[in-house]
Amino acid sequence: MTDDALRQRLLALRTEIEAHNHRYYVLDDPSVSDAHYDRLMADLQAIEHDHPDWVTPDSPTQRVGAAPAGHFAPVRHAVRMLSLGNAFEDQDILAFDERVTGILLESGLLTPTGQVDQADGPQHELFPAPGAGKQPAHGVAYVAEYKFDGLAVSLRYEQGRLTQAATRGDGSEGEDITANIRTLRSVPLRLHGDAAPAVLEVRGEVLMARADFARLNEQQLARREKPFVNPRNAAAGSLRQLDPQVTAQRPLRFYAYGWGQIQDAAGHDLRPRATQAAMLDWLAGFGFAVSPGRQHCRGAAELLRFYAAVGAARASLPYDIDGVVYKVDDLRAQEVLGFVARAPRFAIAHKFPAQEETTRLLGIDVQVGRTGALTPVARLQPVFVGGVTVTNATLHNEDEIHRKDVRIGDTVIVRRAGDVIPEVVGPVLELRPADALPFDLLAVCPVCPVCGSAIERLEGEAITRCTGGLFCPAQRKQTLWHAASRKALDIDGLGDKLIEQLVDGGRVSTLADLYGLGELELSTYPRMGQKSAQNLVQAIDQSRRPPLSRLLYALGIRHVGDTTARDVARHFGSMQAIMDASEDDLLQVPDVGPVVAASIRRFFAEAHNREVVAALQAAGVEPQADVAPAGAKPLAGKTLVLTGTMPTLTRDEATRRILAAGGKVSGSVSRKTAWVVAGDEAGSKLAKAEELGVPVLDEAGLLALLSG
Ligand code: IVH
Repeated sequence: MTDDALRQRLLALRTEIEAHNHRYYVLDDPSVSDAHYDRLMADLQAIEHDHPDWVTPDSPTQRVGAAPAGHFAPVRHAVRMLSLGNAFEDQDILAFDERVTGILLESGLLTPTGQVDQADGPQHELFPAPGAGKQPAHGVAYVAEYKFDGLAVSLRYEQGRLTQAATRGDGSEGEDITANIRTLRSVPLRLHGDAAPAVLEVRGEVLMARADFARLNEQQLARREKPFVNPRNAAAGSLRQLDPQVTAQRPLRFYAYGWGQIQDAAGHDLRPRATQAAMLDWLAGFGFAVSPGRQHCRGAAELLRFYAAVGAARASLPYDIDGVVYKVDDLRAQEVLGFVARAPRFAIAHKFPAQEETTRLLGIDVQVGRTGALTPVARLQPVFVGGVTVTNATLHNEDEIHRKDVRIGDTVIVRRAGDVIPEVVGPVLELRPADALPFDLLAVCPVCPVCGSAIERLEGEAITRCTGGLFCPAQRKQTLWHAASRKALDIDGLGDKLIEQLVDGGRVSTLADLYGLGELELSTYPRMGQKSAQNLVQAIDQSRRPPLSRLLYALGIRHVGDTTARDVARHFGSMQAIMDASEDDLLQVPDVGPVVAASIRRFFAEAHNREVVAALQAAGVEPQADVAPAGAKPLAGKTLVLTGTMPTLTRDEATRRILAAGGKVSGSVSRKTAWVVAGDEAGSKLAKAEELGVPVLDEAGLLALLSG
């Protein structure tokens, strides 16, 4: 190959590699295999090896170029990096919107009829439609975005090349982290297209996705290094590495949400687009991942709706957010509104209740679970976190306590995300008192704390268990609670307090005993009126003809979840056949492996478990064969995603029906998703579906699909 041809090849390789980076790290939509990507990189490296004078800093081979630094040099920001005012209450948002509306009305930028002053040409609508009265018809146009819980950075491009990256610091001066930022493959080293201004500063957040964080922590543990407490700390620690080689190993992402200096070649300030939204689209065109989940909103009511929808979807987002941000969309209006102190008046952060707080660990209790697992539970100084007051949090198991080095008396970080059980993340070592006490399970609990049976910890298991089985009241209660749960027999009105009283009073010891409870008797229990007793008896009665799969699941056999129960029930068709099945027979069921087969065998080998099944039968409980759908499976090979609340179908019921029709249900939307079924208050999954062009159905649409 001639030098000219080789140079062409080198340029083509660079462009292709960056295009794959963009697809993979920005669009989340890779188009080639890792092996193919590696081959392109190797080809490029080979050419650059033979022609060292052709290597330029924007080559994809140069992402991890720099040697470890001694320190981070200070960087003065050309345009200050501001922070945002915080709001927690709806009233704060109403006041914000009122303030913004007032100032804009006064400025003449908008009139009480909602008309925009169009002196310099209408490029867009500040208010969408004219309306009478003082308040404009539809309210101010805002863009609402996620408030990413990461670290703010500013990326400076000159002539389209990344020249500097800096942390926010105090807003005026940050630290130079260019070498580290260059290792993030979601950050273009060279801006895409050829319309880049002479100077462009892009601002946004560096963060670590939760799944990446979990993987990183597994690696940390495997290397016997300390795990990070949360994705934000992991991202911060990764960015503050003096050696960019280390940062390069960390799965960091960058999302753009703003800009700093923008200038043309003559050094004049530019504002290339008229609105916040259009500016972000403009940045996306240069190859950035731009604030996903953003939405146009008009007036305070729509802002609050966005807040509620995002709040509900928060736990299922791939990364942590700590609120949402509202920004006036029109940039002229932003200018008129200006700044107070260090925060803009045109934007505000609406925070979610914190998901992490610190508090004192007062003690560690041991609880016994449904399968006998002894679970250490933290007793905490009450603390408001994730929107509720938390006094107990799980510590999972003894190993976990030691791994995290949590001691009684420590100040600990408590996390409650979404509806998940609150957990102790780790201790704040700096605040450890001298008398903090390490936890020793065997010393506290030499036997089961509830029934006094022996405890055992099987080889290779992290969990210590009570061996009492259904002799142990704790296991009995948990088993009943499980049996009554929605995916099992769905007995409404049988709460944990009542179960506690029924078991402690000796009235109920197995599932079958529930079917002997009468209205009169139940109404004598505390907090049980005649009406609720009547309802409960009715609910119990209604559970007498459950699908076999649900009854099997209700028995609470270890390793038998609702999906396995369904597979097994379909395969055998009757409880008797399941009880009589050998391990080999069980292994014939698709998706049933040796662990599940052994567990089912062991369960029915116990006489007392067979007695419960017999007693259920005697009490008139008649499981019905799970009907395999007749003939065709209309959803075979299709994956659906459910989001929001549907008018009549529960999530479980919809899932059951989709599975029965041969389909799959997934928790996240991708290009492979066939349909997204959206109910009320659908959140980010709906947005993602729209972004990816995945068809969206409502409940009626789903029912139509199911009926073929
Ligand atoms: S805009 C002039 N947008 O929040 C407005 N900030 O409390 C400047 N943040 O330091 C910031 N997500 O680290 C903006 N969508 C978003 C954001 C966001 C997260 C962070 C950012 C900033 C802090 C201010």
